[in-house]
Amino acid sequence: MAENSARRGNRLFIKKSVDQIQREANTHALKRTLGPVNLVFLGIGCIIGAGIYVMTGNAAANFAGPGVMLSFVIAGVACALAGLCYAELSSTMPVAGSAYTYSYTTLGEVFAWVMGWLLVLEYGVAAATVAAGWTGYATSLLKDVGIIIPPHLSTSFIQSVAQPDGSLQFVTSHSFNLVGAAGILLVTGLLVIGVSESATVNNVIVLVKVGILLLFLGFGVFYINTANWHPFIPPNQGGFTYGLPGVFRAASVIFFAYVGFEAVSTAAAEAKNPQRDIPVGILGSLVVCTLIYMAVAAVLTGVVPFKQLGVPEPIAVAVDAMHLPWFAKLIKIGAIAGLSSVMLILTYGQTRVFFAMARDGLLPSVFARLHKKFRTPWIGTLLLGSAIAVAAGLLPITILGDLVSLGTATAFAIVCISVMYLRSQRPDLERPFKVPGGGFWIGKAWIGVVPVLGILACGVLAYPLIADIIIKATHGDAIPAILLCSYLAIGAVIYLSYGLWNSRLAKGLDILEVGQGPVDAIAHGVEK
Ligand code: ALA
Repeated sequence: MAENSARRGNRLFIKKSVDQIQREANTHALKRTLGPVNLVFLGIGCIIGAGIYVMTGNAAANFAGPGVMLSFVIAGVACALAGLCYAELSSTMPVAGSAYTYSYTTLGEVFAWVMGWLLVLEYGVAAATVAAGWTGYATSLLKDVGIIIPPHLSTSFIQSVAQPDGSLQFVTSHSFNLVGAAGILLVTGLLVIGVSESATVNNVIVLVKVGILLLFLGFGVFYINTANWHPFIPPNQGGFTYGLPGVFRAASVIFFAYVGFEAVSTAAAEAKNPQRDIPVGILGSLVVCTLIYMAVAAVLTGVVPFKQLGVPEPIAVAVDAMHLPWFAKLIKIGAIAGLSSVMLILTYGQTRVFFAMARDGLLPSVFARLHKKFRTPWIGTLLLGSAIAVAAGLLPITILGDLVSLGTATAFAIVCISVMYLRSQRPDLERPFKVPGGGFWIGKAWIGVVPVLGILACGVLAYPLIADIIIKATHGDAIPAILLCSYLAIGAVIYLSYGLWNSRLAKGLDILEVGQGPVDAIAHGVEK
């Protein structure tokens, strides 16, 4: 008995072999068609969404004022550091998988599970967050054409209410965001029948999303009232409301706006020249988005006093202030198209992470079962889509966004650790791209400057989120803490009751084509 549990204890750190993954990657059937421009577009396609269209307004109104421009720099730098670590891992293990596979190979199974569970925040919960943002623009556009959606069908069950001191309090209501839930179910239907974006469709959507924002900048710049930028950072009102703490709290909110850039690293197997193009794709899309985001934040807070931006559709509010009704409609249509595509990409990502975990035996095989005709993991997609729709209906964008940022910051930190761990354990591996900045050895451990800075930056982003959850809980507002703890507990229960006993790796069973991309893996999948 004791021996059994010891064996199971060691098992927690069982690893996939990097060499096997490299071998599989070398024999994969994916075509190398993506160049640097396509990769930058791929990144922008995943990045631009509810973060800029919705959360910038909330972050300015509740936390940073016009100082939200600085928050974008802080979050962008953190992402660039983590992005370099993603680039190294993806060049070493050019699998079209995700951080989940990297963790399985470097740190071991229990970390892979933790990473997979964190990715639920980064993809599934993020899809619900974007749906909440999508609702604001969809209901606003419907209102413009005379269709009024009652608030109890377009706002969530839990709502955030601003208090006189500027802080947010969460309360329950009689509402359910049916509009957001319907948006997710629509996307789920498309994914079941196998609609995912091609590079060409992605390029068109990127042009629409970026084009709309550039138009906003082009017109908006003439309506800026520089008085709205004073004070640039409003004086702190206690906690994270304004002041420097507010700027960092806002950075943790709009960190969400960058989520998605790591999708570029998952395309390593399809890049023409991954060594050069993956870092270019990651850093290029981050730089382009940071510049656009800062400019949009400047115009937004310049046109409308920042306290008025805490609404579901802040960009539309700024356009309304310009008194250009036709442009307001165009902005809403562009936002709805852009946010729909991000909802699709994120929900797709979530189904594929669970697909990979199910193939490894860490989740029930139902998540990897393919539809005979559509060749998509249809049951898993329906289950996940329904869960995401319920989350979108119940929770407000503020809570959802914070959970995404917290999960993503943790996932990024694990990626930074993985780089150092793999360098320490397998210095011999071929690494076409290495993080710049060098490092040093302490005993048998390699300590890299960029990965360590990346971990610190993730800590800087996670700290205000955790502190805020604790402060709220001690002031009687326990909803965010309860959600976070339940989420962690559910993850632990699923792993301990299922994954630990069914892992294919631990059973010595063949790993099903793990080295191949999700789409490719599906093409090779077997109906069980
Ligand atoms: N970065 C994506 C967005 O802002 C998730 O919607």
